[in-house]
Amino acid sequence: MQLPYVQDEQKTRKTGLSTTRFGNLACPPSVAVHPSEIASRLPGFRYSFPLLVLLLLTLWTPADLEAGTRRYRCTWRDDPATTMVIGFEHFSGAAVRVVYDTQDHGRSWRDYRWSATPARTVNHAGMRNVFVRLKGLRPATTYNFLVVDSEGVSKQMKFETPHATPDLPLSIIAGGDSRNNRPTAQAANRLVSKLRPHFVMFGGDMTNGDTDMEWQQWLDDWQLTMSYDGRLTPIVPARGNHERANASIYNLFDVPNPDVYYGLNFAGGLLRTYTLNTLFPPGGDQLSWLSRDLSRTKAMWKIAQYHHAMRPHTLSKPERDELITLWATQFTRYGMDLVIESDAHTVKQTYPIRPSREPGSSQGFIRDDRRGTVYIGEGCWGAPLRANDDDKKWTRASGRFNQFKWIWVGLRQIQVRTVRIDRSMGTASEVDPMARFRTPPGIYYWDADNTGDVLRIPRRPDDVLAFSSTSNPPGGPAGNTVIQASKAPAILRRDAAGRVRVGFQLSETGRPVILVVDNNMRLLFKQELSIRGPGPYSEVIQLPTMPPGQRLELIVKGAGQVLGKYRLE
Ligand SMILES: [Fe+2]
Repeated sequence: MQLPYVQDEQKTRKTGLSTTRFGNLACPPSVAVHPSEIASRLPGFRYSFPLLVLLLLTLWTPADLEAGTRRYRCTWRDDPATTMVIGFEHFSGAAVRVVYDTQDHGRSWRDYRWSATPARTVNHAGMRNVFVRLKGLRPATTYNFLVVDSEGVSKQMKFETPHATPDLPLSIIAGGDSRNNRPTAQAANRLVSKLRPHFVMFGGDMTNGDTDMEWQQWLDDWQLTMSYDGRLTPIVPARGNHERANASIYNLFDVPNPDVYYGLNFAGGLLRTYTLNTLFPPGGDQLSWLSRDLSRTKAMWKIAQYHHAMRPHTLSKPERDELITLWATQFTRYGMDLVIESDAHTVKQTYPIRPSREPGSSQGFIRDDRRGTVYIGEGCWGAPLRANDDDKKWTRASGRFNQFKWIWVGLRQIQVRTVRIDRSMGTASEVDPMARFRTPPGIYYWDADNTGDVLRIPRRPDDVLAFSSTSNPPGGPAGNTVIQASKAPAILRRDAAGRVRVGFQLSETGRPVILVVDNNMRLLFKQELSIRGPGPYSEVIQLPTMPPGQRLELIVKGAGQVLGKYRLE
């Protein structure tokens, strides 16, 4: 593994702004000498003046004064076990950088073994947001860090890299919609600090109006997720409709994709998280990425988050049929285990379900304990609560209260606990870092219908896993009406009304076309179907009366290729 100081030494050579061992500096930082005076005294003075000013500001940092930084946040762009992005607002001073070490040096910044300079700086929400991207970290390790600039040193903080071991569990908090009720959001943030999860998945709608002031307040409140020892909780954010543009998330959290859809791998193959963007076209590039990624991942568990619930459990929110067509079909196909939705400001958890219109289904889903996906939500981190007045046949339980989910991911099962924020406000003690899967006193869980305190999602049977881990599963879900072209009969027979059911498999987004030709390849019928994403489909086509005595052929085309050919009778 690459050691952190190796990379930072390279940065030092490149930028000249950072050193790896501050203890080796020759100039006592507390000596207040004007930079130009120091520069003129340096032997072999041949550097440009601005560069020297920055260099000398670096040397000058007083350890007993505060750096011009605040509103800290930890995020990821890459492997969470070995990287971390430290983001913050830099409101004054110069030569800002992060010093970090596994050993505790308090605020003696010169003693920290490693340092890194900003990789990205962007003005957004009335703040100068700086992101320092750390690489080459050790998994399952707590790092102490300081943010240092020409004006001083921040308080000491910590971050923790998750482990890279699939046989050790992960602790995750998931929720969304903090919006405009700050006392509740602050209470939820304090609970994060008590539960010390490996990270928080946040499903969007952080603020109400996406204004500068609201974001600054939100980041102030986010500091409450910091544990008593200064441990900052990493956040994996999604975009909601109250973020006016993808830039609100990209510029404040430095996520890996400006379009705010991305995946992250955790715990050496135990889990892959998918953050999707319902404020961006769900088909097209996003769907292609999702399908391709799902088909390739070898992660044991897959969890997705996005903002808009497909089937909200409140009547006042619209249905999202396109998300079922484009995404839920992929979730079933590739075995998405758990989906976290937000936006509706109510509470729900479902049985495992998959898209279906067969008898027994309801609103486009049917319960399927073997192949289904569990959906939970729907965002109550401080937003105004809505009535849970739209349960479905496959709803396991619903409610109306402020909450977030505490999710434990282990080898054999996922456990989901719904933490009642209001009732848990009295929680005083943090979980023991060495026993983080133990409920601290004061935490109250939702005692849900058909569930109890803990919703358990067991590992799928081996035969189901075999299907979901292949890029071209040998058929649709058991009991589904989907027919795959390669498994369909070579002969399609019309019913008495002239209808025929056609099955086909689309490998990428496209508009399928149904053609009927005679034995002279003369076109007798053509029907374009609606545009759709990759996946298996089954369509009933109403055919016109065909000339008798002809040998007919039905052809399915899509995405520039022939998807199937059948003899039509
Ligand atoms: Fe929303």
